[in-house]
Amino acid sequence: MKLILVLCCVAVSGSAPRGRRFDNEKLFRVTPENDNEVKFIKYLDNLMKLDFWKPKYAHNITPKTEVYFHADAQQSNVIVELLEQEKMKYRIVFHDLQKAVENQFNKGQKSKKVATRYHEWKEIAVWAYSISLKYPNLASLVQIGETYEGRPMLVLKIGNQKAKKGIFLECGIHAREWISPAFCQWFVTEALRTYGKDKVMTKLLDSMTFHVLPVFNVDGYVYTWTNDRFWRKNRAPTVKDECTGTDLNRNFNVSWNGIDFDKTPCSSSYAGSAPESEPETEAVSSYIRSNLSSLKAYISVHSFSQLLLFPYGYKEEEAPDHKELEQIAKSAVKALESLYNTTYTYGSIFSTIWTHHTLLARNQIQFPAPLLTGPMTLALSTHSCLNYVMRVIMVFCFLSMTSNRPARRQCWP
Ligand SMILES: *[C@@H]1O[C@H](CO)[C@@H](O)[C@H](O)[C@H]1NC(C)=O
Ligand SMILES: *[C@@H]1O[C@H](CO)[C@@H](O)[C@H](O)[C@H]1NC(C)=O
Ligand SMILES: *[C@@H]1O[C@H](CO)[C@@H](O)[C@H](O)[C@H]1NC(C)=O
Ligand SMILES: [Zn+2]
Repeated sequence: MKLILVLCCVAVSGSAPRGRRFDNEKLFRVTPENDNEVKFIKYLDNLMKLDFWKPKYAHNITPKTEVYFHADAQQSNVIVELLEQEKMKYRIVFHDLQKAVENQFNKGQKSKKVATRYHEWKEIAVWAYSISLKYPNLASLVQIGETYEGRPMLVLKIGNQKAKKGIFLECGIHAREWISPAFCQWFVTEALRTYGKDKVMTKLLDSMTFHVLPVFNVDGYVYTWTNDRFWRKNRAPTVKDECTGTDLNRNFNVSWNGIDFDKTPCSSSYAGSAPESEPETEAVSSYIRSNLSSLKAYISVHSFSQLLLFPYGYKEEEAPDHKELEQIAKSAVKALESLYNTTYTYGSIFSTIWTHHTLLARNQIQFPAPLLTGPMTLALSTHSCLNYVMRVIMVFCFLSMTSNRPARRQCWP
């Protein structure tokens, strides 16, 4: 059910998916009960190199962790046999990923509303231009750089264009997390629609600028529409001819060769040949650096999970404003729960994603998102419907607007 929510919340658009097919490929869910069962999953991974959706790596699996992995048709037969032999409980969430992908395309075809379906990159670009034309006083469009394949990276500045405070909101750094760009589009549409009607929104837009990058990894996003629905990285070549793409989320100049350093070009979380080696990461970093005096927060939207995370990720130490961040996250999660009965988990990335167990078990600690450091960062991972996330952002922004926090310079030199 959970995963279905990711796919369902924004029902999807017109044309059928092209490129790589996923016929009879399956998504499994297992929750190992004890260390033996954990060992067994790791053994399966060694045996057939499973494609984990959650957690990201086999070594993050501990007893009671919900584990999702994707396997092709042949692997699936063997996996089912082995799981049954081991008497392990499992669920096949999708029996045929190809059908699931196609379903996304068939739903909501008729809808004209922006936020009710996913959009191809070209549509998003046109939408961004039209927003800036339609709301000349409240919106403007800037190109902050170009992707490897030469597509423009577009930031929509929403709200008071002369405000001294701003928040950078970024979506779609991971190509396959389609609900993320859809969220950014929805946020912009909803903010502009309710300006002058909703008191909180009006106050937010009057007093700050939202710098919204609806699609960070444009080339990767296009590739998920044309070739491989589950592509994650950008599309630039690597030192290895047969392996394309860098995980932009690992390419920032923050703890670049630190705890989660992945130097394997073929891996889906490859950190790149150097910090900011990728044009997309470089463009965003430069933009942040030149707007550092006004930016008070950096928000990154991901899927799928219900997590509200803040720095640090690359070290155990608490961030200077840890107490405040925790308070904000707590209020946001509470507000969400009272409205939508959700249960978001919150905390520093280090403490939330890296369980004690994992830390003890490994000398080399890995970490999923070095990006998630200052100015003040918040990663949001969602499988919920869009307005849940909206509420989190609203609570978060409102609090950060009133708190006057200085940007954290040590993270963005
Ligand atoms: C990365 O950061 C380090 C230390 O802050 C700095 O010396 C280096 O020049 C930076 N590299 C890039 C590519 O910005
Ligand atoms: C923000 O960054 C952009 C791109 O580097 C720059 O053109 C712009 O002047 C900056 N804005 C402010 C207020 O510094
Ligand atoms: C809230 O969610 C819990 C489980 O997450 C469920 O047991 C409960 O019935 C839900 N309550 C409402 C009012 O939907
Ligand atoms: Zn992600």
